[in-house]
Amino acid sequence: MANLQALTEQFIRHYGESAESVQAFHAPGRVNLIGEHTDYNGGYVFPAALTFGTTLLIRKRDDHKLGLASTNFSASEAFDIHSIQYDEKDDWMNYPKGIVHELQQTGLRFGNGYDLLYHGEIPNGAGLSSSASIEVVTAYALLTMEGQPTDTVQIALLSQKSENEFNGVQCGIMDQFAVANGKKDHAILLMCDTLEYELVPFQSGSYKLVIGNTNKRRGLVDSAYNERRSQCEQAVTDLQAAFPEVTLLGQLTLEQFEANKQLIKDETVRKRAQHVVEEIDRVLQSMKALQANDLAAFGQLMNGSHDSLRDLYEVTGAELDAMVDAARKVPGVLGSRMTGAGFGGCTVSLVHEDSIDTFTEQVGRDYTEATGLKADFYVCTIGNGVEQLG
Ligand code: GLA
Repeated sequence: MANLQALTEQFIRHYGESAESVQAFHAPGRVNLIGEHTDYNGGYVFPAALTFGTTLLIRKRDDHKLGLASTNFSASEAFDIHSIQYDEKDDWMNYPKGIVHELQQTGLRFGNGYDLLYHGEIPNGAGLSSSASIEVVTAYALLTMEGQPTDTVQIALLSQKSENEFNGVQCGIMDQFAVANGKKDHAILLMCDTLEYELVPFQSGSYKLVIGNTNKRRGLVDSAYNERRSQCEQAVTDLQAAFPEVTLLGQLTLEQFEANKQLIKDETVRKRAQHVVEEIDRVLQSMKALQANDLAAFGQLMNGSHDSLRDLYEVTGAELDAMVDAARKVPGVLGSRMTGAGFGGCTVSLVHEDSIDTFTEQVGRDYTEATGLKADFYVCTIGNGVEQLG
């Protein structure tokens, strides 16, 4: 967690003194334990909030400007809060701008502007939801400052809408939901079609979740992501010959899918749909494994998830595969998989606490040998969703 005093001093150096007080907020990053590429198909996901994320300091202004600055990037600017527009050159600032825009779309009228300073601890482009973290903390902070209700499910939906419509990324609801609704030591079983959810205590005893960052920049991720989404929509259209009422793959059982999958004409599209339906089933099986305290079975399901994302959904890539292969060779590892959208970013592994040093040393070495890249590792503790600090 950021040092609030140092950050406040930085805020005042940047924006100057004022009679208004500086308030602090935090939203985490997230890791998804299982259930990948199921959210936009109306299926289950099982993410957890991390203890590190984005800290935001905010203070009221006496004009109508929105001041944006970050300790991570040099660019800072002040925008007219009543005429916010997307601009590619504004880079990360388009995330907070999108939130201000969406809040206004819901009818919120800002009577004054704000100065905001962000401090991000989530490595960029690592697939740990740094953008969702910025969106959710911004929405929560502005609603609090405006004296408005801060319903975290509504904040997740507003943040997803902002990312879809203002920033043009067709993401599902998982990231914003986890960042907004996470709880210390709990993972979230979320049904993305209905947004019903349950906080499940994640008790892994002497096993720890270890995140491995491939440090592989996620090249074509947006276009490949959108392509997967449209392939899933195509699968639904084909399956509607047998199930006219079905609008999302997640509404079919595995049995219904198996009995009718020949209706999907294109083989690649059929593979994509097969992943989605089986992955949703894996999430449900993993709940049973956790209830039975069977971490070995949970680990096997993690492995099954990765293999399916590699072979059927084809979103892993050489780096994620190399890291997962190396992880599975370490004694004391129950399971290892990619997490997030794929094509780079991070893996998550379930590792015995006595094996963590061997894990980081051996996986780090094998990964560099295979790819020429250097990996980073974080032993993961599950933290809270968005909150006000202090
Ligand atoms: C990204 C998206 C999420 C989800 C995952 C894949 O993180 O933002 O909505 O689709 O990919 O599970």
